[in-house]
Amino acid sequence: MFWGLFGWPDSCLYGVVPLSTSSQIIENLTTGVVAVDRDLVVCTVNPAAEMIFESSAKQMIGQPIARFWPDIGFSLEQALRSGHSFTRRDARLSLLGRDVRVDLTVTALLGRGGNGADGLVLEIHAVDRLRRLAHDEEMVDHHQAQRLVVQGLAHEIKNPLGGLRGAAQLLERQLGAGEREYTRVIIREADRLQALVDRLSGPTRPYRKTAVNIHQIFEHVRSLMLAEVGPGVDLKRDYDPSLPELDGDPDQLVQAVLNLVRNSVEAMRGAGTIWLRSRIERQFTIGQRRHRQVLRAEVEDTGPGVPPALRETLFYPMVTGRAEGTGLGLSIAQDIVRRHDGLIEYQSEPGRTVFTLFLPFEVRT
Ligand SMILES: Nc1ncnc2c1ncn2[C@@H]1O[C@H](COP(=O)(O)OP(=O)(O)O)[C@@H](O)[C@H]1O
Ligand SMILES: [Mg+2]
Repeated sequence: MFWGLFGWPDSCLYGVVPLSTSSQIIENLTTGVVAVDRDLVVCTVNPAAEMIFESSAKQMIGQPIARFWPDIGFSLEQALRSGHSFTRRDARLSLLGRDVRVDLTVTALLGRGGNGADGLVLEIHAVDRLRRLAHDEEMVDHHQAQRLVVQGLAHEIKNPLGGLRGAAQLLERQLGAGEREYTRVIIREADRLQALVDRLSGPTRPYRKTAVNIHQIFEHVRSLMLAEVGPGVDLKRDYDPSLPELDGDPDQLVQAVLNLVRNSVEAMRGAGTIWLRSRIERQFTIGQRRHRQVLRAEVEDTGPGVPPALRETLFYPMVTGRAEGTGLGLSIAQDIVRRHDGLIEYQSEPGRTVFTLFLPFEVRT
């Protein structure tokens, strides 16, 4: 029996600050905490550890830790036997298909008999994740600065463009039928520029937030796309039906998801599979803010992957890998999601590209 670890009284008071139960504290740590007994069987897992191991507490508790982290078994056995705690920096944790770097501190819980330890507490920090957070922050800052420049430029072009078009229309009235060809060109090109400038400015109307179900958004996008794609593209769904509703602008979110799905369709050149997936993610940090629960909405495709030359600047406006592209789709999608306090990230390799929207369930207005 594994005893004593989380057994503090529920209402313990330190000074005048009432502390919640110890298990509640552990639940809310960003450090992954796993406790194992003297057989190295998992007894406790907090949500941060669930995320690191990509397994639920339900799947882990009662199982040997070696099933989830084979490489660490030997060191843990030693710590149990000797009762010595240890720390390891930048340890490798192999998960299905990929490696994660973690900092690990193992504390031996000494038993009463003095015969080795009764169990171990593992504190795990995902190093990659901290690096990723710093990188996200930087990316979002860059992106926002770029958007401001582009929006400013779009605004500056808009006014003279209106004047130009108006003048061409007046001129047209003075000209004979044979000469109107020239003013038509001016008007047509002005209209084309106007459309581009409008797209560069992004959504201009104020956001109208209501309770939104992500699956309705996915289904809407799916029905729009089914009308556009040929039979070679399979649009599959993988939804978690228990997700709560978001506070968001449904039209804008449809736009964001549509931009991602369109990119997938274009990248796959008419043949392949797209997955629309929804999940919940707990204790997740976006920008500076940690959220208890966020939506993880994914658009995955079996296309050739994002061209390597574009990877660092993919979300910037006017970055495109296609001759007929405008490079605005991802920039606008990121903008929309940022305005919902969320973030879009992606992972890409030939045969599997995933764009993920993280959207917090409780949104500031
Ligand atoms: N799912 C994807 N697979 C491969 N490449 C992608 C994918 N999504 C986006 N890209 C790349 O990112 C570029 C920028 O996309 P976007 O901002 O939507 O602009 P556009 O579609 O007009 O080029 C695309 O041109 C393409 O090269
Ligand atoms: Mg696009």
